[in-house]
Amino acid sequence: MKLPVLEDLGDVRGATVLVRTDFNVPMSGADHAREITDDFRIRAALPTLNWLTERGANVVCASHLGRPNGVVTAKYSMDAVRVRLAELAPGVKLRDNLRFSPGEEGNDAGFVADLVQGMDLYVNDAFGAAHRAHASIVGPPRSLRSAAGRLMQHEVAVLDGLRTAPKRPFVAVVGGSKVSDKLGFIAALLETVDQLLIGGGMCFTFLVAQGHSVGDSLCEREQVDHCRQLLAKFPSIMLPEDIIGVDADGVYATFGRRLPERAKGMDIGPGTAAAFSDAIMEARSVLWNGPLGVFEDVRFAKGTRTVAQAMADTKAFTVVGGGDSAAALAQFGFAKEVDHVSTGGGASLEFLEHGDLPGLQALREAPRGR
Ligand code: 3PG
Repeated sequence: MKLPVLEDLGDVRGATVLVRTDFNVPMSGADHAREITDDFRIRAALPTLNWLTERGANVVCASHLGRPNGVVTAKYSMDAVRVRLAELAPGVKLRDNLRFSPGEEGNDAGFVADLVQGMDLYVNDAFGAAHRAHASIVGPPRSLRSAAGRLMQHEVAVLDGLRTAPKRPFVAVVGGSKVSDKLGFIAALLETVDQLLIGGGMCFTFLVAQGHSVGDSLCEREQVDHCRQLLAKFPSIMLPEDIIGVDADGVYATFGRRLPERAKGMDIGPGTAAAFSDAIMEARSVLWNGPLGVFEDVRFAKGTRTVAQAMADTKAFTVVGGGDSAAALAQFGFAKEVDHVSTGGGASLEFLEHGDLPGLQALREAPRGR
């Protein structure tokens, strides 16, 4: 995909540049005492921020943090982010949380005017937010010369390569709790992958579609028909052959594909984890999105850990979609062992499904010329 890049902006010396970043970082603690628990997304913007400041531009960053729904909320203050940014990129300014204004999510023209006031150029480096048609994503490129930042450029290049020209066999591992959130993504993936391994809470809806009973495990009954259609059309889908969970008395247990009444599946079983690991080791490209079990609980972390380990060990080109799978990878200490960890959760899913995002389209349509 051809996007305008930083070089296309020409000489940026003395220009004031609005940079949309995704500093929606995980935080802990209460209100003003909140601390950043992982500054990965701030560090990921540094190549772009440094490129601009080294060439004499004045940089003003803008980001959302959490979902304050248009209300100024102490809990979502940018103070901690501003402190960290000052340490990492001295001289770079940061606006207040974009979502303190209802105009951001409403894509309000007045808020866009406020954002671009005093700005000469616009750079979008917020891959993680590029699927939102919000004011700061689609508004500034309507009037300002614009470019994709380095992070945006890299994310798009990696994910586009995987979508359109993956090395084969291409294996995708998909987990997470809600199948309804990912069915569009799964259906699109099935058109390209050689094998799709399904675990996590969502596997139970597929198992029910195959005719198995799943006890009290998570199951979205209204999605069973859709899952059944996908299973009939795509033999490349691989479902768990064993499950770990708790029985009717809440006691830890291992099951086959059929769970007894009131039992609850919480993780893929050891046989499935080994089979998934084999498929990852034999692949030449692997995409992983979503944990395979409730990995925050050590009793149900083995499936996710085994997949994370295989992602680290395989010779395949490995990409991890953001969000929970990136958190799991970091928890098990493998974050540096994979080729690409996306900074976008929802954005990477939508890009892989549709091959485009509102933020990318806006950049392509921005005014050109120096
Ligand atoms: C993310 O964390 O995935 C992005 O920052 C987008 O956040 P949102 O889902 O609240 O729009």
